[in-house]
Amino acid sequence: MDCTDTKRISLGPRQIVKDVYWVGVNDCVKDLFESLWPIPDGISYNAYVVVGSEGVAVIDGVDKHLTYEYIEKIREVIGDLDRVKYVVINHLEPDHHASTPTLLSLARNARVVISPVGAKIIQTLYDIPKERIVEVVDGEKLSLGDRTLRFIYTPWLHWPETMMTYLEEEGVLFSCDAFGSYGALIGSIFDDEVNLEYYLGEARRYFSNIVLKYSRNALDAISKIEKLGLKISVLAPSHGPVYRKHVDKIVSLYRDISQPKLYAKASIIYGSMYGRTEEIVEKVAESLRKSGVLVELIDAARVHPSYILHFVLDSGAVVFIYPTYDAAVFPPVWEAMNYLYIKQVGRGRAAAIINTGSWGFAVKEAVELLSKAGFRILGQAVAVRAIPTPEDEKKIRELIEKLVEELKKFVSQP
Ligand code: FEO
Repeated sequence: MDCTDTKRISLGPRQIVKDVYWVGVNDCVKDLFESLWPIPDGISYNAYVVVGSEGVAVIDGVDKHLTYEYIEKIREVIGDLDRVKYVVINHLEPDHHASTPTLLSLARNARVVISPVGAKIIQTLYDIPKERIVEVVDGEKLSLGDRTLRFIYTPWLHWPETMMTYLEEEGVLFSCDAFGSYGALIGSIFDDEVNLEYYLGEARRYFSNIVLKYSRNALDAISKIEKLGLKISVLAPSHGPVYRKHVDKIVSLYRDISQPKLYAKASIIYGSMYGRTEEIVEKVAESLRKSGVLVELIDAARVHPSYILHFVLDSGAVVFIYPTYDAAVFPPVWEAMNYLYIKQVGRGRAAAIINTGSWGFAVKEAVELLSKAGFRILGQAVAVRAIPTPEDEKKIRELIEKLVEELKKFVSQP
């Protein structure tokens, strides 16, 4: 992927199916999505135009700094912005709608279409007059003449107001954040014309960063779409590729990661200031490997939490090994723990804790935070000297035995 390839990232409007156009933009300026998550290859904000015989609907928008590029693309497709009747807000977050007030100032006949929950929140984000807001209920249809939009509530993906929009005649599902991926769109917007394996990998990381906490809602959304019997010819999310050939692949990836299979795998999240704690990490890893456990070593000082969340997704257990720092948990490990707590990653997983120190320890706060993250804490958290005593080594051995026993209930990774 190359976000510096200005020729290949500058995409004009693209037709998706008859009368439906992609008018999104690539963001290769931001280094961190949401000021949190690294996007070394950028990200796309996908927006779409549906041209009906009796009016035009714009589905979602883009982040503020790319507003004019987006509006120019809409203009390129429809000519006069006064043709825009509706701007559909599937999700209010500013990466999709910071552009909307400007679009509304230019598209003078347009009204926004939003769920009632969204209508309650919208004024906290954007100054849009009430008379320009149309609320739609779950399942409601909106006619554009020869084209019909249907709105499907899919709440908490990942905000309370989220919905999807379905274009009935062409079978296009505009899913907003769901099924999205990091990575700017290079050279093409379509799944069969880009490096799909890259985007599927980044869809997994995007999911673990943004949607993970709401996995249950993702499953509910998929099952709702299936029960409605919607035929999806094109799946058009608001980040990443537009799926026209591999709809099944992205849907089954989402289904899998929303209820991840846990393996006999231990992610060891560790920190080490002078190498002593790392020696313990290596011994623990070696013992676990000898017992048939797959081990993934994660140096929290050098691996961003975005990737840590991604890596632990299929681990049956997570081991935290860290030195004491200023009588507290070593900060990079504490940060990782905090992300795991915010995203509630502990559900269904066990955690083991080994804290090293010479004049102080920090165990209690780790146990509390990891318990709040949903982890089941294995045995006693172990506090050991930087150079472990025989007694310390015994405690570590016992903890490893517990881990191996715990992981026996999971299958080995294929
Ligand atoms: Fe892509 Fe939740 O915004």
